[in-house]
Order: sequence, then C-alpha cells, then structure tokens
Amino acid sequence: MKVLTFQGGARKNGNTATILGWIEKELTGAGHDVQSVTLQDKNIKGCLACMKCKDKPEAVGCIQQDDAGELLESMVNADLVLFTSPLYFWGLAGPLKSFIDRTYSLYVDYHKPGHASLVEGQRQALLVTGAGPYDNNAEPVFTAFSRLQKPHMAIHAGDLFIGSCTTPDQLGDDIKKQAIEFARKIVG
Ligand SMILES: Cc1cc2nc3c(=O)[nH]c(=O)nc-3n(C[C@H](O)[C@H](O)[C@H](O)COP(=O)(O)O)c2cc1C
Repeated sequence: MKVLTFQGGARKNGNTATILGWIEKELTGAGHDVQSVTLQDKNIKGCLACMKCKDKPEAVGCIQQDDAGELLESMVNADLVLFTSPLYFWGLAGPLKSFIDRTYSLYVDYHKPGHASLVEGQRQALLVTGAGPYDNNAEPVFTAFSRLQKPHMAIHAGDLFIGSCTTPDQLGDDIKKQAIEFARKIVG
C-alpha cells in the first residue's frame, strides 16, 4: 500500500514525530511504501478561496505556486494518508491546517449530484498529541477530521489521541504499543 504521512508539528524530535516514527517503522516493516513529509519544511500558503480549482474537476487545480501542488499530487496517488499534529489551542498546528485547507482543490460539487473527488476511496487517518486530556480539549480536531472524509469521499481509517504528553523520552512502551496497533488498524 502507498502510504503518505504528514508531520504537522514543528518539533522534528517531539512527541508527534516520535510516535509517528513508531507507526512508520511498523508500516515499513509490513512491506508498505511510506513517504514522509514534514510540513514545517514546506512552503504552504493558506487557501485563497478563489474557487479557481472548481473549474478543473479532472486535475489538481490550485493556482498557487508553492509546495502544496506537489504534495496534493502525492496525496492523490496515495492509498492511505496519515495526518499528524500536536494539539495547538484545541486545533491542528498551522502547517497542517493550511495544507488541509488546500485539499479544497481535490473535489467538486460537494452537496450536489456531480460530487466528485480525486481522493475518492482513499483511507485517511489522524494522530494528535497533546499535553492535556481528550475530554474538553481534543474533541474538536477529531470531529472536524471525521467530517473531512465526506467532501473528500474518503474512508475514515482511524484516529488516535495521545494525551498527557510531556517530553518524548517519557513516552512509554504502552504508547508505543498503541502506535503499533494503530498502524496495523489504519491499513485495513
Ligand atoms: C502553541 C501551543 C498550543 C498548545 N495547545 C494545547 C492544547 O490546546 N491542548 C493540549 O492538550 N496541549 C496543547 N499544547 C501542548 C502540545 O500539544 C503537546 O505538548 C504536544 O505533545 C507537542 O507535540 P510535539 O512534541 O510534537 O511538538 C500546546 C502547545 C503549544 C506550543
């Protein structure tokens, strides 16, 4: 399976990247082809809401010239996309939010009979880490993510929240086990 992962946080050796590393190791070991993208290293502008992408239903049609175009092409070619982020003020980190907004260019005619998507049938999953608990803290990102699959016509492959995070060296074997189980689950 072609797997594309997006690391949305800034810290390359932080909690999110550490857990993502365990997931990627499990996926690679199981024979999957994993492409890993650190969004912090990319130039991704916010969606302009210009609607120009809606003129070209057959291709990735964003008019902006930045790194998102190539990443959107990679996303179209992936069987599974894993989005990951630290929780920032009850939401996704900025680089990942900007990229997800740019996926607006991947579909047309949402809520209409002609609804079509370049990522129809794709598996999509979300990993989020946070310092706090799930309750009264992390729900909004998971609610938003579970809605994203509708316009994308994608499959919700799974989601995982790792709360009470401090530093990566404090992530224990129980978390590693959860990461490995999550990796096995999201490939279906
Ligand atoms: C700007 C900012 C906002 C944050 N907001 C939240 C939050 O709303 N809820 C939470 O549980 N943790 C919050 N945190 C803590 C991080 O989500 C947590 O430490 C996370 O595991 C960091 O991941 P990283 O090591 O991959 O950067 C915030 C941290 C920062 C820097």
